[in-house]
Amino acid sequence: MNHFLDIYKTDPAALRGMIDQARQMKQARAGRPKGTPDDDQPLAGRMVALIFEKPSTRTRVSFDVGARQLGAETMVLSGKDMQLGHGETIADTARVLSRYVDLIMIRTFDETVLTEMAEYASVPVINGLTDRTHPCQIMADILTYEEHRGPIAGKKVVWAGDGNNVCASFLHAAGQFGFDLTFTGPAQLDPEEEFVGFARDKGAKVVIERDAAKAVEGADLVVADTWVSMHDSQSSKERRHNMLRPYQVNAALMKHAKPDALFMHCLPAHREEEVTSEVMDGPQSVIFDEAENRLHAQKAVMRWCMGA
Ligand code: CP
Ligand code: NVA
Repeated sequence: MNHFLDIYKTDPAALRGMIDQARQMKQARAGRPKGTPDDDQPLAGRMVALIFEKPSTRTRVSFDVGARQLGAETMVLSGKDMQLGHGETIADTARVLSRYVDLIMIRTFDETVLTEMAEYASVPVINGLTDRTHPCQIMADILTYEEHRGPIAGKKVVWAGDGNNVCASFLHAAGQFGFDLTFTGPAQLDPEEEFVGFARDKGAKVVIERDAAKAVEGADLVVADTWVSMHDSQSSKERRHNMLRPYQVNAALMKHAKPDALFMHCLPAHREEEVTSEVMDGPQSVIFDEAENRLHAQKAVMRWCMGA
């Protein structure tokens, strides 16, 4: 049994295996109705719990559909409707759930909720986003990049905006998959040193560049995310917008990247804020492939967790 808690905690060979398996599973069911099961049913007879303490569209639906395609049954639980949201400890919740289900995916705020869940559960636990990281998203993003452009190793990825949870998992992936990452954003919103340090220790080149146009020079992939994440206070919105406006990804900025550079965004996006519709709906954008690939990548993650 394996927990999938973070990209930096997962062996690079295992990560590579999941990406390759995801691609194979995607190809194997190309053109089939989404509600039909896969030919292989490695999770037949298994029960999967999907717990959400924050809103979600993609994570909720892609895990649910993916688990069913693999043969599992699923239940989607809202944290606030569980006793977990009314004072029951995470440790007790983890031990109780482990008596009913075979796999737990949780989206939460503080990452200690995730790590404590994993410590006390006797079944695998998957990180469906915390305030600090979002590893499943980046697995889908690697799959997406490689489908369009081949191996991501050695490529230049530029993160524009807030050094947030999704950026952190990109930095982990830079270390594990061997690509370079340039962060461009205001100093107040730099990614944590721990994430930058991990990537650098693994040999990835990480550059912090305040000038967005310079940062994007020679980029193979440009990535944006919302300027206000679910864990950020609404009162910080105006301040964040003012700081982040110079880092909007628009057609003028994309001109500085390589002509065949891709654009990614984990979604949900705030059109005309962190990215213009022109870029989101333009020829370099692969945002809906990313969203689709959540499904395929997470199926591989679930199989790896279950050893199936
Ligand atoms: N990208 C992502 O995780 O989307 P949701 O918040 O809709 O799950
Ligand atoms: N950074 C965003 C990602 C949403 C999928 C957030 O945490 O709200």
